[in-house]
Amino acid sequence: MNQIIDPFNRHITYLRVSVTDHCNYRCHYCRDEDHQTHTTRSEVLAFEEIVRIVGLFAELGVTKVRLTGGEPLLRKDILDLTKMLGDIPGLTDIPLSTNAHLLSSFAEKLKSHGINRVNISIDSLIPERFKEITRDGDLARVIKGIDAAIAAEMNPIKLNMVVMKGVNDEEIESMIDFAIDRGLDIRFIETMPIGLAGIEALDRHYSEKEILERVYKKYGNKLIAKDSKQTDGPAKSMLIEGTNTSIATISAVSNHFCASCNRVRLTAKGDLILCLGQKDSVSLRDAVRSKMNDEEIKNLIIKAITKKPEKHFFSSDIDNISNRQMVEIGG
Ligand code: GTP
Ligand code: 5AD
Ligand code: SF4
Repeated sequence: MNQIIDPFNRHITYLRVSVTDHCNYRCHYCRDEDHQTHTTRSEVLAFEEIVRIVGLFAELGVTKVRLTGGEPLLRKDILDLTKMLGDIPGLTDIPLSTNAHLLSSFAEKLKSHGINRVNISIDSLIPERFKEITRDGDLARVIKGIDAAIAAEMNPIKLNMVVMKGVNDEEIESMIDFAIDRGLDIRFIETMPIGLAGIEALDRHYSEKEILERVYKKYGNKLIAKDSKQTDGPAKSMLIEGTNTSIATISAVSNHFCASCNRVRLTAKGDLILCLGQKDSVSLRDAVRSKMNDEEIKNLIIKAITKKPEKHFFSSDIDNISNRQMVEIGG
């Protein structure tokens, strides 16, 4: 089988596909208050184009394709896409990252299309605070979405909490309890300086070290380190003994995981992004809208991946950080 290996000997097996840069939430750390999305329909990849590109990646050894956004469930007829992706040979994992606002009406159908697991952003369990962080999000609906994913037997369901000093850090413990009650996993994420909103959020940065001190204080004697699987993302995971819940941290800033990076990203407009923290990209939209055949596009992908940087420059070179908003990249 074909494989894509970058110059740092990393096997690229994971593609994150943003299906829309629209979002119904406006989380502070993800997009500027007045950021507007003006993308027109023809600028965005059509489902057939996404499926062709994903199929080529699958031929090149990608086994995991995560659907992201903005908010992926906002993309019109998203279930048509999930159905088509489910038929691509070679894909073994097709998860979704969502804010869960619309999940209650989608969970069952997604599951029937082979979307067996979801990662859900939830930064607070206090309705007013949740509303404030998301600029008008509805916590009750999100919890309804989480419960629908549980009812649809999606597994694992991972909660993503971006921890911010003085904003929601005091909720680390209650978030763990919420996850244990529902048998879910929880990941605590450090804010990353992506786009203006992400750079501003660094003021509220809460480090992995601070997060773990709190976690150990509460559950130290019950934590069992888990081996990470090849398909795993950047999280480092620990199981809480006697529960179905694992706790993990994602610390791109204080302790980056670039040496084991196995992923690239495709934006809704068809740009292949080689690293979250870099400006470089290659337009696969231009490629699929040209006369290039599949072999030529695969060669373009292989060539692009030779430009994948060794690591991000979050702390050393702020100018080299992508100026795209996180909402356009999909995390
Ligand atoms: P799993 O497949 O379940 O492990 O998920 P994941 O962690 O790959 O995906 P998710 O969409 O839940 O992302 C969680 C957080 O990790 C988000 O804040 C992402 O921005 C961040 N993240 C994911 N991949 C990368 C990466 O390659 N680099 C950096 N710096 N952050 C990443
Ligand atoms: N820093 C860290 N995580 C972020 N996300 C969005 N913006 C940022 C940022 N600046 C997270 C969301 C979601 C995931 C896909 O990306 O909270 O859980
Ligand atoms: Fe990979 Fe770039 Fe993320 Fe590092 S920052 S893990 S190189 S995508």
